[in-house]
Amino acid sequence: MANQFDHIRDQFPILNQQVNKYPLVYFDSGATAQKPFRVIDCISDFYKNANSNIHRGVHTLSRKATEQFEAARKSIATHFNVTNDQQIIFTAGTTDSINMVAQGLAKSHLKPGDEIILSTYEHHSNILPWQLWAQEHKGKLKIIPLLEDQSLDYTSFENLITSKTKLIAITQVSNTLGLITDLEKIKAIALKHNIPFLIDGAQSAPHMAVDLQQLDPDFFVCSAHKMYGPTGSGLLYLSERWLKELPLSKTGGGTIKTVSFEKTEYAEGALRLEPGTPDISGVIAFAEAIRFMDEIGLDSIYKHEEELVLYAQESLLKLSEVTVYGQSKHKAGVISFNVKNQHPFDVGTLLDKYGIAVRTGHHCTQPLMQCLNIQGTVRISFGVYNTKSEIDFFIEKLQKTIRMLS
Ligand SMILES: Cc1ncc(COP(=O)(O)O)c(C=O)c1O
Repeated sequence: MANQFDHIRDQFPILNQQVNKYPLVYFDSGATAQKPFRVIDCISDFYKNANSNIHRGVHTLSRKATEQFEAARKSIATHFNVTNDQQIIFTAGTTDSINMVAQGLAKSHLKPGDEIILSTYEHHSNILPWQLWAQEHKGKLKIIPLLEDQSLDYTSFENLITSKTKLIAITQVSNTLGLITDLEKIKAIALKHNIPFLIDGAQSAPHMAVDLQQLDPDFFVCSAHKMYGPTGSGLLYLSERWLKELPLSKTGGGTIKTVSFEKTEYAEGALRLEPGTPDISGVIAFAEAIRFMDEIGLDSIYKHEEELVLYAQESLLKLSEVTVYGQSKHKAGVISFNVKNQHPFDVGTLLDKYGIAVRTGHHCTQPLMQCLNIQGTVRISFGVYNTKSEIDFFIEKLQKTIRMLS
């Protein structure tokens, strides 16, 4: 039966190419997703028709650019079910957003000796800003361990909490294993102990509906480029409390009501946290990418990618030489595996010869690799444009690769 995913690939110009004489099979959307025509066109339309700086211009072009920029904020807020669009701050992406929160909290909320809870899954971007704070302020990072099946040990999690715990910062989806965090459990425990929590949505927002009213975190972060949008753009969602209270980590033009050499009165709302000229076209194109996803429907995207993950996981498990990490029926778009006695780089390099783009290495999760006692993995990650026939081709070429390497 035909469905809306059958021809979606045609909307992505980059996919219409041969790599090493084979049609490109792009299995690296977890690193960055490809962009449909409408997102690419949106960027060029902005520079052709509306390019101007935003917020302070009275001339027509500046008003046009400002309207498009602020309309993007509204539609992105609606996508995440956020009523007050001022709670959406545009940043350069997930890493930038987490650094803003870490540096801001270090100024008021976090005191020497305090503790922050992270999980074993975390990407380096959700470890290093907290580690830096801990090193500079004699703070402590506590880590939610893994169970045998590589899911998070939520029972141990609650035992990590003490009166010094000031934040829980956790990913919604592991970028290496694809496993999904039980955020309802995290939220219940965070609320019970009155501890703010940050959700790293870099790998969830591309694959599933994220309702920020329901999740109600203190902070939520994600990157446009993993959601079919451009690089260099992303967001930081703040609860109403932190929208007012998060201390500034960077400041400058655009954030103020009045400035004298003696003192500054800052603007209210999102502008207080958006110094300087932002990536205007990037934000507008981010909203276009989200419209693209919304038109397909996030539940349909999740179902499509879950089917791909299950199909690929089952096919991989049939190969006796392959170890699949974090095996589960509920994964968001990502599978990590290794071929016994082979280095992931060798497997990835040989797959590339057949035009198959996979990622190899530690995936910016070295602590998780240490916990699994491995150097790295081969990671395949899917987007709306991937198909079961690509998986069949990949499995065929993986078998060939295994034969060549053994
Ligand atoms: C879970 C997770 N967090 C953070 C990041 C960092 O995202 P960015 O490089 O877009 O800032 C990534 C990127 O792969 C990720 O997967």
